[in-house]
Amino acid sequence: MLKEKLQQVREEAAEELRRAETSEDIEALRILFLGKKGRITSLLSEMGKLPPEERPVIGQAANEVRNFVEAMIKEKKSEIGRRELELRLKKEKLDITLPGKPVMIGRQHPLHLVLDEIEDAFISMGFTIENGPEVEFDKYNFEKLNIPADHPARDTQDTFYFTPDILLRTQTSSVQVRVMEKQAPPIRILSPGRVFRIDEIDATHSPVFHQIEGLVIDEGITMSHLKGALETMAKKLFGENVKTRIRPDYFPFTEPSAEICVSCFRCGGEGCRFCKGEGWIEIGGAGMVNPKVLEGCGIDSVKYSGFAFGMGLERLVMLRYKIDDIRMFFENDIRFLNNF
Ligand code: DAH
Repeated sequence: MLKEKLQQVREEAAEELRRAETSEDIEALRILFLGKKGRITSLLSEMGKLPPEERPVIGQAANEVRNFVEAMIKEKKSEIGRRELELRLKKEKLDITLPGKPVMIGRQHPLHLVLDEIEDAFISMGFTIENGPEVEFDKYNFEKLNIPADHPARDTQDTFYFTPDILLRTQTSSVQVRVMEKQAPPIRILSPGRVFRIDEIDATHSPVFHQIEGLVIDEGITMSHLKGALETMAKKLFGENVKTRIRPDYFPFTEPSAEICVSCFRCGGEGCRFCKGEGWIEIGGAGMVNPKVLEGCGIDSVKYSGFAFGMGLERLVMLRYKIDDIRMFFENDIRFLNNF
């Protein structure tokens, strides 16, 4: 009787274990068959009712069933464990070939990129960088640059005024006066910055743009020093083959005054559509500092002379990178900025 029951338990255990699919199933079956109140344990407790001669036989059979179920559980456990591990590995697999999340890295604005190169060129010639205010007194922007109130040169620079005396500077030349007032010669400065003029916005005009001012004051400074400094900068910016040219022009604060040109980087000076057949492209104005301006700043114009220049930064960058619309610099379109 007991022997048959054992046999039945063994078959049931084998069947159930075969069907078990998870570690939880196995654990439940272990408790059901081998636990303290499990099927096999309770059958064994019935052994006490047997006549003594039968006990060893049944005891042996019971041990055999228990060993069998234990072995099967062990085997099934490791099989399921393996399968579960495989599943987990498959599910948690990292595909290291997938592209990563893009990291956006900022970069320099093209205006700044070229300005850095220009600054480097002049710093290597012993210049220091000076900054001046964008909100300026009329005195520094015009008056002390030999542009009195009724001077026609004011008409060419339509000015944003806050009061009759205070304005948005129209040119970085204002910094020349500020430097000469506070510093005795020798002076050798470069002053880049924003300037403002009332102007309609189009491909080549903007009410806000940048200039780079240069000023050198010392004994014995001549126009050839100006030419040399500009040439050094132009070569650094446009390559060894570039040529520079200065031609007469007029500015109230320089005498003589000059227009600065570089040879066209497109045609090398032959004349093309880009330079309108001229072979030259204008990049700014320059000249020998007017003795009147020197004297107005307390500098002895007999002992000292100097040159000055002012260039448009946007224009230089447009030439350098073949950009044909000034608005690109201010719109901050990432597709444009990413090219630099
Ligand atoms: N300030 C002038 C302008 O905005 C440019 C200029 C011309 C600056 C001659 C100078 C200079 O320093 O010497 O048109």
